[in-house]
Amino acid sequence: AEVRNFKWEVKYMRWSPDGAEAEVIGINGQFPGPTIRARAGDTIHVELTNKLQDEGVVIHWHGIRQVGTPWADGTASISQCPIKPGKTFVYRFEVDKAGTYFYHGHYGMQRSAGLYGSLIVDVAQGEKEPFHYDGEFNILLSDWWHKSSREQELDLSSKPTRWIGEPQTLLINGRGQYNCSLASNSSCNLSGNEQYAPQILPVHPNKTYRLRIASSTSLSSLNLAIGNHKLVVVEADGNYLQPFSVDNIDIQSGDSYSILFTTDQDPSQNYWISVSVRGREPKTPQGLTVLNYLPTSISKLPLSPPPVSPKWDDHDYSKTFSNKILALVGSPKPPTKSNRRIVLLNTQNFIDGYTKWSVNNVSLVLPETPYLGSIKHGLSNAFDGKPPPENFKQDYDVMKPASNKNSTYGSGVYYLELNTTVDVILQNANAIKENVSEIHPWHLHGHDFWVLGYGEGKFVEKDEEKFNLKNPPLRNTAVIFPYGWTAIRFVADNPGAWAFHCHIEPHLHMGMGVIFAEDILRVQNIPSDALACGLTGKMATNNVQT
Ligand code: C2O
Ligand code: CU
Repeated sequence: AEVRNFKWEVKYMRWSPDGAEAEVIGINGQFPGPTIRARAGDTIHVELTNKLQDEGVVIHWHGIRQVGTPWADGTASISQCPIKPGKTFVYRFEVDKAGTYFYHGHYGMQRSAGLYGSLIVDVAQGEKEPFHYDGEFNILLSDWWHKSSREQELDLSSKPTRWIGEPQTLLINGRGQYNCSLASNSSCNLSGNEQYAPQILPVHPNKTYRLRIASSTSLSSLNLAIGNHKLVVVEADGNYLQPFSVDNIDIQSGDSYSILFTTDQDPSQNYWISVSVRGREPKTPQGLTVLNYLPTSISKLPLSPPPVSPKWDDHDYSKTFSNKILALVGSPKPPTKSNRRIVLLNTQNFIDGYTKWSVNNVSLVLPETPYLGSIKHGLSNAFDGKPPPENFKQDYDVMKPASNKNSTYGSGVYYLELNTTVDVILQNANAIKENVSEIHPWHLHGHDFWVLGYGEGKFVEKDEEKFNLKNPPLRNTAVIFPYGWTAIRFVADNPGAWAFHCHIEPHLHMGMGVIFAEDILRVQNIPSDALACGLTGKMATNNVQT
């Protein structure tokens, strides 16, 4: 195993992600940030310098469990203090499992400002993947607004709340086209050198390729297709799947997948790769790039039009897809029983005239002092002492808007006992408006979990009988469908303070998350600069003075 060293500077810069000049957060002058590539067992060492003028920054390594290094999880207010402008912080952690991952900002809405990049972990030296391929590509998906993320943040925290609306452009590896379509021959006029020119995927006929896909979207659920080609799904969130073949693949924010495709089509043609919005009425054009069969010229437009994606509100389609995702034979199985069940009701609410999202009627507000430090040092007034509710009132009708739409702010945590098995039932409900229930992709830090099942309506006790304990997939992100529930199980075996939240950036910002605290007293070696803010910061200065 090796140590991979990186020196990064995070800075706002002018960039043109979709042809319209904008302000993005770049790393070392790049957008998206540099790709980290390592082997399982390697140590990643990133020296991160904050060159933003007046904002803190942190980076979260999405999908990396941070076993033994909870302080390196990169979550502001949870695992560490934001790195102050001009300061450098060192992330050092092991990537223990091969897979497709990414990293992104986890402070305010900096992910929406473009602070993200890919993190790819190959199998350890001498090991083999359980499938064969001749070449590979990597695609990081995102959505882009012409309104800056700072303005979006302001709008979301205005009274009344102003919604950010739909993105202007979908980006593939940070590249999209705003006022032209690649599919209509003349309009784009690209030389190929533009920052927003699509990244072409060049392939040779009769080969098998691995396509790694991760989604860092702020809002959009997506669907990806390659014209005329079948996709065989083999990996999700760094875990191997029982391979299955589909025409296109749904990708939620926070998901990652590997698919295999074989270049068995007419080699004298090129083919579209398309990315479309799902789950919300699409007001954003498809994102496109081209699968280029060499030696066919790239200027030859694909014969057939871009793939048509399933209808945006065809949720059954997505459910069918989700239910095909099963663990590869021989994958770790879940414990057959859980020690605790936490039911989390997802609702949209009002607090004092602001629109919020809540979990069991608590809308998460992050404290100034990171939980990891405040719990470790027994600073009990750093956040709400009372843990949030384990369930919601059984007479709550999830199919209708709440009769009382008010909610409360909270910063309490769920304390999980070490090595216990925890079930979480994510329960969806009607939002504020009648006949509206949205999709929420929930992401857990510090662990993978088994997805035991999905169901319609309100979860009832006997639904447990339908849990898949035989071959449930391990994931770090799981979606809840409108008016439905999703059951997950994990073992609380990683001491630390871990976020579990909706990966839709504005939803998290509006309170849609909870915190799990796992045996934090056991955590050692938290770097002092991770805690140099709030009450832990004061504690440190007092120590110096005495
Ligand atoms: Cu990728 Cu807490 O997020
Ligand atoms: Cu959400």
